[in-house]
Amino acid sequence: MKYLILVTVALVGFISAASFSVPTRSVSSLRAKLIRENKYQDFLAQQQSARTLQLNSGSQPFLDYFDDFYLGNITLGTPAQTVTIVLDTGSSNLWVIDAACNSEACNGDPKSGFPKHKFNTTASSTFVTESRKFSISYGSGSCSGHLGKDTITMGGLTISNQEFGVAETLASVFAEQPVDGILGLGWPALAEDKVIPPMQNLLPQLDSPLFTVWLDRKIHGSDGGNGGLITYGATDTINCDSDISYVPLTSKTYWEFALDGFSVGSYSETKTAKVISDTGTSWIGAPHAVISAVVKATGAKFDWSTELYTVDCSTMQTQPDLVFTIGGKPYNVKSVEYILDLGLSKNKCALTFFGMTYMGFGPSWILGDTFIRQYCNVYDIGNARIGFSQAKHSF
Ligand SMILES: *[C@@H]1O[C@H](CO)[C@@H](O)[C@H](O)[C@H]1NC(C)=O
Ligand SMILES: *[C@@H]1O[C@H](CO)[C@@H](O)[C@H](O)[C@H]1NC(C)=O
Repeated sequence: MKYLILVTVALVGFISAASFSVPTRSVSSLRAKLIRENKYQDFLAQQQSARTLQLNSGSQPFLDYFDDFYLGNITLGTPAQTVTIVLDTGSSNLWVIDAACNSEACNGDPKSGFPKHKFNTTASSTFVTESRKFSISYGSGSCSGHLGKDTITMGGLTISNQEFGVAETLASVFAEQPVDGILGLGWPALAEDKVIPPMQNLLPQLDSPLFTVWLDRKIHGSDGGNGGLITYGATDTINCDSDISYVPLTSKTYWEFALDGFSVGSYSETKTAKVISDTGTSWIGAPHAVISAVVKATGAKFDWSTELYTVDCSTMQTQPDLVFTIGGKPYNVKSVEYILDLGLSKNKCALTFFGMTYMGFGPSWILGDTFIRQYCNVYDIGNARIGFSQAKHSF
């Protein structure tokens, strides 16, 4: 995809260069006039920047850790420093780790095998620091520090003056994860400190005001290999079925919409619930009654040592489908998607569910990577809607 875009830009450049060399009267006289007035260089520079402002799209691979974490590389600063971050539709802030922070969470637990790539603000000539503090908490832990601005690139696209958090304090949970930061792809209303999310700043450059997520699967022990693609500004016609069904969002905070029903085995629920699509959540968060139903339908047992519901791995392909009803259509998630081989002992595989207690507000379900592996998600900002289509996998 990235290669394709380079070709497009080059082609546009070529065409305008060609039209320049055509000696039509108006062009040559304009050129002569500009040269006479010593404005020709400025004119060329202007043309150049008009060309780089061409509408565009870009994409980048997801790095797949055990089908459980899907990360991406972005760069910050001048010269560019690469960090590996969560591309998270369940939050709306970008933050990275300050090179000056030397806690174990900031450096990574040496035993985890995931050394952190921290951001050195003083090594970037384009970094502008701010006195404003920032702090954010997630389901898994929190981080805090100060804000700053710099150039960032994602999927080959560049954003100047992106505001983001430089974390000086990090929850210890991050020490064990292959994560150098988080890039929130949620709506501005969800952003802490009213920081404009990168995706919003990217919109003016894009062909279409949307992005598409395809998550691949490895099934057995992937450790950072390519495992999917995120496409900014276009749908993904290579990895996703072209038949996309959209539903309107019920809130422009998370990517929230209505789940009309759910069934598994003999269990069926037809009451509408609020659900969010969250690439930053590995599994499916569901009401406790649903967890019980899935446990019953699959014959899963609670494993006290890991605190997970597990089934024998040999049943991974043969358990009943989960069926989600969204916008009146059924979406089946096969057991090969919702049962995960985490390398547990005794040939046990995990049900990728966790229980959620509805608090009277917010979503009562979270459709994380388990769901998104089966269905590409099109996050359509321009039309405030979300689309789903079957994801393609090589096996
Ligand atoms: C992602 O960035 C890390 C850290 O700089 C690097 O080791 C890795 O090779 C990069 N992966 C890809 C696919 O670019
Ligand atoms: C950050 O970069 C500066 C300038 O290149 C360098 O002097 C400093 O040692 C770096 N700091 C860290 C913590 O790596």
